[in-house]
Amino acid sequence: MRKIYIAGNWKMNKSCAETVLFLNSLIDFNNSYESEKIEQIICPPFIYLEKAKEITANSVIKIGAQNCSEQDNGAYTGEVSANMLKDIKVEYCIIGHSERREYYGENDKLIQSKYLKLKEHGIVSIICIGETLDERESGNTFEVIKLQLEGIFDGIDTVESDTFVLAYEPVWAIGTGKTATPEQAQEVHHFIRTWLKEKYNKQSADSIAILYGGSVKPSNIKELLSCPDIDGGLIGGASLDIESYKDMLTIAKESEC
Ligand code: PGA
Repeated sequence: MRKIYIAGNWKMNKSCAETVLFLNSLIDFNNSYESEKIEQIICPPFIYLEKAKEITANSVIKIGAQNCSEQDNGAYTGEVSANMLKDIKVEYCIIGHSERREYYGENDKLIQSKYLKLKEHGIVSIICIGETLDERESGNTFEVIKLQLEGIFDGIDTVESDTFVLAYEPVWAIGTGKTATPEQAQEVHHFIRTWLKEKYNKQSADSIAILYGGSVKPSNIKELLSCPDIDGGLIGGASLDIESYKDMLTIAKESEC
């Protein structure tokens, strides 16, 4: 049985004080919120990771980074490696986000290197894929998704569901307020699961979580979670507000049964 992931991608937002306030409020909320099936993940900027880990040390909240280097160490100014993330016990790391692909030229080959490094250090990758508006409008969504999957998993013969989750994030839905309909999202999630089954096997395909991302918020998360192949959300804007993050946790818990 797959878990439901409510993962907040804060991007380049919040101060240290705001991070502390948010996490303390989430810890309080968790005193009366029990659900073993829901994985709560918060991905603050690098600079607050250690503080976030410290605050959440005895809680169910997992902390994720938003990127990492594909290198171990050395002369790579401005970079942070997977072993450094491991050092402070970060559990997750987002890789291949469309903003990194678009603004920092990241490609599937690089994303694979990052995934392998994270895996080596026991950190779970949240691997993002998704098509642009042009690609969708020209009818190429499935082809683009397939090429991204083929690139990221090229030469990888076996996969373990505890080393990564996938996040389908249609680029046109990120930060635009325009969400894919549950039907549009489910169709792509199903395509991804079928691809995993064909490349690997049914057991892997059934156990790998596939999150949806792109303007997920309290008003649409219920419908998205009701789709059979959607295992949670990678949430940007709506994860910055503690009340809306808590609302999404409550809805996820209700949709669990
Ligand atoms: P959004 O961002 O929820 O603000 O659309 C999602 C993401 O970029 O991961």
